[in-house]
Amino acid sequence: MYTQVGIVGAGPAGLLLSRLLQLQGIDSIVLESRSREYVQERVRAGVLEQNTVDLLTDAGVGERMRQEGLVHHGIELRFQRRGYRIDFQELTGRSITIYAQAEVVKDLIDVRLATAGRIIFEAADASVHNLKGFQPTIRITQNGEPIEIQCDFIAGCDGFHGVCRPSIPDGVLTVYERTYPFAWLGILAEAPPSSDELVYSYHDRGFALLSMRTPQLSRLYLQCSPDEEIENWTDDRIWQELHTRLACADWSLTEGPVLQKGIAGMRSFVVEPMQYGRLFLAGDAAHIVPPTGAKGLNLAVADVRILAHAIAEFYRSGRHDLLDTYSATCLRRVWKVQRFSWWMTSMLHRFDSDNAFDQRRQLGELDYVTSSRAAAQSLAENYVGLPME
Ligand code: APR
Ligand code: PHB
Repeated sequence: MYTQVGIVGAGPAGLLLSRLLQLQGIDSIVLESRSREYVQERVRAGVLEQNTVDLLTDAGVGERMRQEGLVHHGIELRFQRRGYRIDFQELTGRSITIYAQAEVVKDLIDVRLATAGRIIFEAADASVHNLKGFQPTIRITQNGEPIEIQCDFIAGCDGFHGVCRPSIPDGVLTVYERTYPFAWLGILAEAPPSSDELVYSYHDRGFALLSMRTPQLSRLYLQCSPDEEIENWTDDRIWQELHTRLACADWSLTEGPVLQKGIAGMRSFVVEPMQYGRLFLAGDAAHIVPPTGAKGLNLAVADVRILAHAIAEFYRSGRHDLLDTYSATCLRRVWKVQRFSWWMTSMLHRFDSDNAFDQRRQLGELDYVTSSRAAAQSLAENYVGLPME
């Protein structure tokens, strides 16, 4: 079997890359280890930058997002029982859209399959080979049958736990990593969101976030210890902690049945370079950000926009330079987004290693961001998405 671009992973990165290449007349095959149902049901992120909304719309995948997505023009920072709005519209003229990653994945799968796109679900035992050659290959088994796919290029869109990054020989990659001393406990609840916009709350007991998926579905998070077990957190205990940490004058939190709950660790992670021979890493395969800045999905989208353009130029004109500089081009944005995600995380979370000075310093930072136009504009321009280079 041959394809121009073999794509490992049917998450947002792999699926969007496949769509962008198709629009340039370039053939690809997406290989996904999980079932279609599994990848479409995973509860993940939910905030789309304006750049992401525009790209999905231009790629012909934005209709349901336009109909069902919730356009937000700001967020609230909450501390010492008071709320302060960061007005994206006034500060940047841009907005964000709340639309679940799972819905983006569904839309991308639908459009690819409707246009004869090749996605192999439940593709087991993927491995990549001959990465420095002119025809790298991907091997999988499907229903126990071995399949080999010859490619011109391979895109490693297989996430943090995928096989592509580890297939790069030792000594090539440099890893930059920070693990945070806390995790997020997240719930999906059948409760109308108690705020029209996202609420990020700094509290003595730890960070809490109020988000949402639809006018009927709330998505809420609270900071917890990284070794917490979800079994120790009854619904009542979760709601009680959320009431305490989100408490604010003249406001109350609406509860509802908890449909899903889980605990996720937090890290900052980057590998350099994001390419080796004809293998190109994109999205979580190359970098992880703490979720505080809502950047994971959006950074994956930014990578594949760059990769799709580089591959298209190669086939159109034989140019290699955009492929050769793919990693450097992506990393400029990656490190600015890493900085923002680390900054939001450091400002809003309680660190056990911190002392009274650190707590006052955090409150001083929150006071500065909510009282200085320049500081608020800096947060806003990063949150809605820095301009694409
Ligand atoms: N073979 C085939 N597919 C694989 C393999 C493998 N060995 N390993 C992982 N995959 C698949 C996963 O099942 C998943 O569907 O690769 C896909 C990777 O998708 P994501 O993890 O969603 O990563 P990405 O597309 O880069 O999107 C980043 O997803 O995890 C969130 O927070 C992250 O919002 C961010 C977004
Ligand atoms: C979410 O809705 O899942 C969400 C929103 C904002 C974040 C992180 C997660 O910073």
